[in-house]
Amino acid sequence: MSQEKVRVPDLARMKAERRPITMLTAYDFPFARIFDQAGIDLILVGDSLATAVRGEENTLAVTVDDVVYHTRAVVRARRRALVIADMPFLSYQVSAEDALRNAGRFIKEAGAEAVKLEGGIAIAETVRRIAEVDIPVMGHIGLTPQSIHRMGGNRVQGRKPGRRPGCRERLIEDALAIEAAGAFAIVIEGVPPSLGREISERVSVPTIGIGAGADCDGQVLVMHDMLGLSESFKPRFAKPFANLWQEASAAAESYVREVRERVFPAPEHCYAEAKGN
Ligand code: KIV
Repeated sequence: MSQEKVRVPDLARMKAERRPITMLTAYDFPFARIFDQAGIDLILVGDSLATAVRGEENTLAVTVDDVVYHTRAVVRARRRALVIADMPFLSYQVSAEDALRNAGRFIKEAGAEAVKLEGGIAIAETVRRIAEVDIPVMGHIGLTPQSIHRMGGNRVQGRKPGRRPGCRERLIEDALAIEAAGAFAIVIEGVPPSLGREISERVSVPTIGIGAGADCDGQVLVMHDMLGLSESFKPRFAKPFANLWQEASAAAESYVREVRERVFPAPEHCYAEAKGN
């Protein structure tokens, strides 16, 4: 694995060379450092922090200040990965000026190198405005969690043919619109693999799939899903590569038991008395 810093233009090269792009979410210093050292290419400070970190039902309440706060911690930890800040609900939909100002905060105040926005044709002009001032923009289409109420829940998209929002041909048009507006990459979430593949073939920018099959140019998972740190809900695509919930539970239970039984702290955990007088 190369130790060289990942930069936006590297991703186009990776797609051209058919080298899969790796991406995980992170929200704090230790996990960002662990993923960076493991060789992850992209770290997304996702608005999934609402559900994964704060236990909320959906991502809608996240603010720009929240993402700035978490992005700063992640940026302090990373050496190699490209850090992308997720733009929260209503931080880019009100007006292009508002979107530009908010996108600028992630770059200026938090040190992110790119931002991510959910949506297709409807936000293409906003993508263009942000990209025009050289803030790299990642798109996000398909199952877009900020559209939870329109979708009627976090439901797989692109199964039905047609041009209505969430339908197959419309999602292809959404991807093409975001690419034409200047996005450097596009997350495709929660669609059948055939659609993940078709979009990946039709756009020239890299696609990063999450529940979109194996033929996207890269893959992303929410870190809590990847590490088995979620208590209950586990989407089909979210393969756990560890079971940290179980490990953390066992550690906490041992701690509780040892304190109650006065096993901890042992002498080796105590400071020596002062020497002399
Ligand atoms: O917020 C997030 O974590 C995301 C990923 C699921 C792509 O948008």
